[in-house]
Amino acid sequence: MNVLITGGDGFLGSHNAEHILKTYSDSKVILIDNLSRTHGNNSKYLIDKYGPDRVKLVVADVRNLDDMLPHFENIDRVYHMAAQVTMTESLEKPLYDYHVNSTGTMNVLECVRLKCPDAPVIYCSTNKVYGDIVRIESKNEKIRYRKFDQLKDFIEKQDHYEYADPNLLGITEEGFVVGPPAANCPYGASKMAGELWMRNYHDSYGLKTVCARMSCIYGTRQYGCEDQGWLSWFTIRAILGKNVIFYGDGKQVRDALYCTDHARAFDLMAKTPKCYGESFNLGGGPENTISLMQLLDLIEEYTGKRSKVKYAPWRHGDQRVYISDITKLQKYTNWNPQVTIHEGVKKLVDWTEKNIEKIKKVSPDVLRNL
Ligand SMILES: NC(=O)c1ccc[n+]([C@@H]2O[C@H](COP(=O)([O-])OP(=O)(O)OC[C@H]3O[C@@H](n4cnc5c(N)ncnc54)[C@H](O)[C@@H]3O)[C@@H](O)[C@H]2O)c1
Repeated sequence: MNVLITGGDGFLGSHNAEHILKTYSDSKVILIDNLSRTHGNNSKYLIDKYGPDRVKLVVADVRNLDDMLPHFENIDRVYHMAAQVTMTESLEKPLYDYHVNSTGTMNVLECVRLKCPDAPVIYCSTNKVYGDIVRIESKNEKIRYRKFDQLKDFIEKQDHYEYADPNLLGITEEGFVVGPPAANCPYGASKMAGELWMRNYHDSYGLKTVCARMSCIYGTRQYGCEDQGWLSWFTIRAILGKNVIFYGDGKQVRDALYCTDHARAFDLMAKTPKCYGESFNLGGGPENTISLMQLLDLIEEYTGKRSKVKYAPWRHGDQRVYISDITKLQKYTNWNPQVTIHEGVKKLVDWTEKNIEKIKKVSPDVLRNL
């Protein structure tokens, strides 16, 4: 099996590549990446471990269709993971975000349509498509939209928030608005455009596309920065003895999924025909949630180190709680997260401690004083 992964040098690209290489003995992977984030480090890890016969790196940009097209010949499966990945950068450079995320996704779909139309295509979307979190409610047979109220819809506890509605396990694909009136940043919009194109290429050309709306995914080989990969960022900063900023009070809660569980989910979505044309939430779900404060406690438990915290105002659109309801994906594929948040953070801490010198070289930003 030949699998092509855009963004293959990235954190998730490299874990998904490794899952394929380990699971299918006849597999080969092609990693397409412009090396803007991890500068070839994760590809080198894969090539050193699995050999150049099974792992090929193509340095190319998803904004350039012609550079990618020849590499889609004889491909059996595509994971589209390359992206501009941060909300903050999308606000600073919306056009760049649009070109990489929306045009880049169209280019990938065109390559598949022209060269390998039978290959399933799994797309990295994001929970940011739910934007400001607008619930769809029906009353007296009338549909109404209700934006979450950050004071009324959440209950404050000592070190975390909870949903006020005890029946709400998390955000579902069908019960909440995607796009307007929920959209709240260019990153959410450019990723949403990608989802629309995925769905359109499924409906118009019969491509086997699947969209994964991902929450926080974390793990080894993650070079977190302040604006993306917060579990990794907090771990790196604690180990380096550097402070962190809480935007808000630090009690905000997220569900988190360990990278190897993510790779199993992508594999299952690609292999399950009834997933084609669908969008799924993909995250740790209600069983694997953590607040910023609780993460600092856990890191301290494992490292003996704790970052000092500076406080800054809440960021626009930041939810007190975001938890993915993952029931739909579980029903379609029988997938379940296997690595608990405690086990996953321990693995992340161990890897970060061992690789801290490399992390400093790859992302000098981790040394910045805040
Ligand atoms: N990690 C998460 O928590 C998370 C959550 C939601 C969505 N996502 C999405 O998952 C995907 C993978 O994220 P990640 O965490 O592995 O991030 P990452 O930054 O480690 O990986 C992204 C990769 O894309 C490459 N890239 C960026 N622009 C490119 C371009 N124009 N052409 C070619 N390559 C380019 C980067 O060099 C990098 O290797 C992204 O699409 C991201 O938006 C991630």
